Amino acid sequence: MDAPVSTGRAIGLGEKSVRGKLVVGNWKMHGSLAQNDALLADLRAGWGAPSGRKLAVCVPFPYLWQAQAALSGSKIAWGAQNVSEHAGGAFTGEVSATMIAEFGCTYAIVGHSERRTLYGESDKAVGAKAVLAMDAGLTPVVCVGETLVDRDLGSTEAVVLRQLEAVLAQLGERVAKAVLAYEPVWAIGTGRNATPEQAQEVHGLLRRRLDAAGADVALLYGGSVKASNAQGLFEMPDIDGGLIGGASLKADEFLAIATA
Ligand code: 13P
Repeated sequence: MDAPVSTGRAIGLGEKSVRGKLVVGNWKMHGSLAQNDALLADLRAGWGAPSGRKLAVCVPFPYLWQAQAALSGSKIAWGAQNVSEHAGGAFTGEVSATMIAEFGCTYAIVGHSERRTLYGESDKAVGAKAVLAMDAGLTPVVCVGETLVDRDLGSTEAVVLRQLEAVLAQLGERVAKAVLAYEPVWAIGTGRNATPEQAQEVHGLLRRRLDAAGADVALLYGGSVKASNAQGLFEMPDIDGGLIGGASLKADEFLAIATA
């Protein structure tokens, strides 16, 4: 593998020489009104918003109003974990991007591997979701990642590029306003994170493809990120932050990751 070379990118800082970090919590299907109240209050109280650092939580749909109420006026953004691939209509149980945007959301995760695997979301559907999220004024956090089988077959590059191409085809140059998260499926919820070098190798690949598209996109790593391994990952030149599952449910741990 090539030695990591810094591309000197910045996220939302307006200065290429300064590196910003974005850390997004994905609560998945966890929480209750009482638990969320405590977690959101602890995050709000504990987040000092250090320069160049951004923090967000992506919560289950029924709690969007609660995140909005708890975090409005703070330096913590919030968002959803999915959006419908349809703009509206007779789609029982679906939630549209415009509905989500009404709750003051900044972000919407699209194409998480759990949705691709468990709910059969296709690359094309993920692209459509990214477009609708952006149309609604949300920043899509587009997830890509290979399974262990893919990795063992040596298909990691082909899989993540295929997933990215489907989004590029639909977003076009608007991809520059998206966030991309690399989440190797074998590292999600398993306690087995990619090493910083393994993650950087894929991030470098994604960066080169996005550079070719003329898009300066924040690239997050996700998969068993904890306070104890965040720094090593975030030091890599093309890792601009993290998408955090389990560890985002504990305020102290999540805040420690966000300042790593
Ligand atoms: P864990 O951090 O629990 O491994 O989950 C990662 C993830 O899927 C975030 O979207």
